[in-house]
Amino acid sequence: MHEFCYVGKKLFCEGVAIETLAEKYGTPLYVYSQGTLTRHFQELDGAMAPVEHRVCFAVKSNSNQSVLRTLANLGSGFDIVSGGELQRVIAAGGDARNCVFAGVGKTEAEIEFALRQGVYSFNAESEPELQRINRVAARLKKIAPVAVRVNPNVDAHTHAKITTGTYENKFGIALEHTEGVYARAAKLKHLRLRGLQMHIGSQLTAVAPFEQAVRKVVPLLEKLKVRHRLEFFSIGGGLGIVYQPALASGAAAWWQSAAGKKIMTPRIYAAQLLPLLQPLGLRILMEPGRFISGNSGLLVTRVEFVKRTGKKNFVIVDAAMNDLIRPAFYDAYHEIVPLTQKGGARISSDVVGPICESGDFFCKDRALPKVGEGDYLALLSAGAYGFVMASNYNTRSLAAEVLVNGQRAALVRERQPVAEIWSGEKVAPWL
Ligand code: LLP
Repeated sequence: MHEFCYVGKKLFCEGVAIETLAEKYGTPLYVYSQGTLTRHFQELDGAMAPVEHRVCFAVKSNSNQSVLRTLANLGSGFDIVSGGELQRVIAAGGDARNCVFAGVGKTEAEIEFALRQGVYSFNAESEPELQRINRVAARLKKIAPVAVRVNPNVDAHTHAKITTGTYENKFGIALEHTEGVYARAAKLKHLRLRGLQMHIGSQLTAVAPFEQAVRKVVPLLEKLKVRHRLEFFSIGGGLGIVYQPALASGAAAWWQSAAGKKIMTPRIYAAQLLPLLQPLGLRILMEPGRFISGNSGLLVTRVEFVKRTGKKNFVIVDAAMNDLIRPAFYDAYHEIVPLTQKGGARISSDVVGPICESGDFFCKDRALPKVGEGDYLALLSAGAYGFVMASNYNTRSLAAEVLVNGQRAALVRERQPVAEIWSGEKVAPWL
């Protein structure tokens, strides 16, 4: 998170004091750094330069149109998982021809839309899906480019809810069945077998599971690429990020610790995987979401009350689990820092939202600086799976979003007006 740092006592995003954004646009507020998005994309793109490749940003991690436009301008493709995401990419100026369409439940309407738009590949997850794509393509008198998502049965050593590459998961086709599936799919006249795809999980912090999966898949790929003249291999997304900086406890220089802590950088990732990938002679696709967007954004919230119970110090803020569900859903850690540093002692605190659920928390028993009503806090690493997973639970508006570029800041999503939440509802006529 190099583009987020303290200048004096104030937390900045690039050249903008985040507090000025909070004052201007209100809270809860997502703030994204265009510089970080760009740097992360370029680091990965650059590390993979020795092989023909395309980075396809996983839209599900952050689908704000300004984020998508930033990446489209850098030459990114997109990994989409619904017709809605494809519409968003197109609305943001992205090119459907650089999109790969993932997901276990693509509907006929989504397939038709994506075919008409000319997506690069449907990454199919079952034989019934392949048959459905073939049927829709036949109806439209088109040839659908497809890849099969292979499930290599590798434990990604990540949170159970974001592991996808074992036979316990609903995703993909088992490695040992894949060859047969390609043979049968080759007989479907409206399919073109274009590639093979895998994605073993999210927030992987070591290269080993990727390497293990690639090693398992390579012998199959060698056969399939000749037999079916495949063009690409997608290794999916999943590159993890640092959520918990090593120096977090007390150091002002929390943002520097990412460099100090040994993590999987694109360089390490590429150095270990390229020797396996290069000999394939295929175009390599990647589908990173979190790596690009995660540390490019934070969520700003305002302290409403501080409440001491017999046992605890509760900091009650105006953001809640409907704005950022990751702590409630995955017990995820998000670093919490003040927008203005005040110094002084730290106090063990639970930071919680106003929603009527005990799961509505951002941290528990964490040593945080003392804060009071009106102070602003930032929840870091919230650029991926933050806003996109927000809901209207408790009839709370979706937060506003701001993009920063150097000294400039733009409101890239207005705070949702409360009445809009029920605007699609109708009272039944007999009431
Ligand atoms: N490709 C496919 C087929 C995927 O299913 C995913 C993520 C990605 C790429 C991107 O993965 P990434 O590079 O971002 O790890 N909501 C969870 C993460 C769910 C990930 C779902 N699939 C979280 O907040 O941690």
